[in-house]
Amino acid sequence: MIDALPEKGVAGEQVLAELRELRGGDLPTHGGRLFAYVYDPAVDGLDELARAAYAVSAQVNGLDPTAFPSLLAMENALVGAAARLLGGDRETVGSVTSGGTESLILAVKAARDANPRITNPRLVVPSTAHAAFAKAAHYLRVELDVVPVHDLLADPPAMAAAIGPDTVLVAASAPSYAHGVVDPVPEIAAIAAERGVRFHVDACFGGWVLPYLRRLGVDLPAFDLSVPGVTSISVDLHKYAYAPKGVSVLLHRNEELRLPQYFAYAGWPGYTMINPVISSTRSGGPIAAAVATLRSIGDAGYLDLAAKTREAVSILADAVTATDGVRLYAPAETSVVCLASDGVDLFVLADELAARGWHTQPQMAYADLPPTIHLTVTASVRATAPQFAADLTAAAEAARARGPIELPPLPPLTPEMITPALIAELAEGLGLGGGDFSQMAAVNSLLNAAPPALREALLTGFLSLLQRPVTQ
Ligand SMILES: Cc1ncc(COP(=O)(O)O)c(C=O)c1O
Repeated sequence: MIDALPEKGVAGEQVLAELRELRGGDLPTHGGRLFAYVYDPAVDGLDELARAAYAVSAQVNGLDPTAFPSLLAMENALVGAAARLLGGDRETVGSVTSGGTESLILAVKAARDANPRITNPRLVVPSTAHAAFAKAAHYLRVELDVVPVHDLLADPPAMAAAIGPDTVLVAASAPSYAHGVVDPVPEIAAIAAERGVRFHVDACFGGWVLPYLRRLGVDLPAFDLSVPGVTSISVDLHKYAYAPKGVSVLLHRNEELRLPQYFAYAGWPGYTMINPVISSTRSGGPIAAAVATLRSIGDAGYLDLAAKTREAVSILADAVTATDGVRLYAPAETSVVCLASDGVDLFVLADELAARGWHTQPQMAYADLPPTIHLTVTASVRATAPQFAADLTAAAEAARARGPIELPPLPPLTPEMITPALIAELAEGLGLGGGDFSQMAAVNSLLNAAPPALREALLTGFLSLLQRPVTQ
């Protein structure tokens, strides 16, 4: 346990040693064995460069670009690069945000505030849209209209039918996180334009790899600002642009569309606050690190990384197809491999893969979609993919030998029944008390069986249980 406020300061070397020891308990961020959360290009020297750039600007405050023009210059460079990559033109403007969730919240805010006369604004999304849209709707008091998908893709006629007089924004994914498929953006854009509604493309996940995949000849629909009717698009630089965490770009087709995104307040005795994004004080560190990453890799480098990613996806997808007991759940057309069960218990399989050093992301059943395993594939996986293929066969055999998880009969639980004491008891009973999360099949099976509201309550309670201050 770390005492963050020791009586007397501790030597820097010791502090760093402690931090490194703590980091030793994390999943590996490099090495092509973690298929979620991190994006690793496996480019020598890139980490060191990004860290050095981060240090140059860590103390700079994005609050006031007239005081720190370096940050303004870097942000304008990042927005310019994103606009060039994503079909923008001379009218395109944008903002640098802290991540995909912030970019989506701001796209929704801009749309809501552009329509002050609509008192009950609504947001239309396909059911595969990222959860951050639900968060945006919740934070901003916008109603969320979730439209069922067809073959995992947003369904244009159904989206059209969901648009009403109070709709301020329609959104789609390029690609969706869960399955890695690209929604039919041109069709939805045409509908949104005809109805006079803003249309946001969430390319947070894949926006920095899709353009390169298309250049490499992968057959994917147009999805960016080159499509008439797309009014905004977001792309996370901390995903496939391989920048350190904390940077996304939100682009708008023109300045008029961006204006309601800003927050301005002069009604207090302090400085007039003008914020384009949610944070006010912002570190220049992540932004400088992103600029360094983009400039170091360059356009040709990203093309090469996309080619490696593509090869890795093919190897993994072939491995899934060749392995008894699992099947590809979605076409592996971008940078995701999503697999479903064809006989084995997927949650047991995920544990068996983890035991072999492969960390995947189980996804729970949703509506009529079965549970799946998600693999976010990055360029580093090109080197490890052949080994994964062999281990997948062994893991599937082991999972079959273990058989499916049999849940004991559970008392009927409702979200209202979840208390901190019950969560503590459940966590202990499921073996999570000691912080060992390597055997998750029973937990995942339980969560998978729980209706969404109960799952939310259980996991909220569990996170709250984990988030306890250190007491000495
Ligand atoms: C499609 C999509 N949109 C939005 C987000 C949210 O991004 P962040 O986690 O950076 O807030 C993600 C994250 O994976 C995503 O995949």
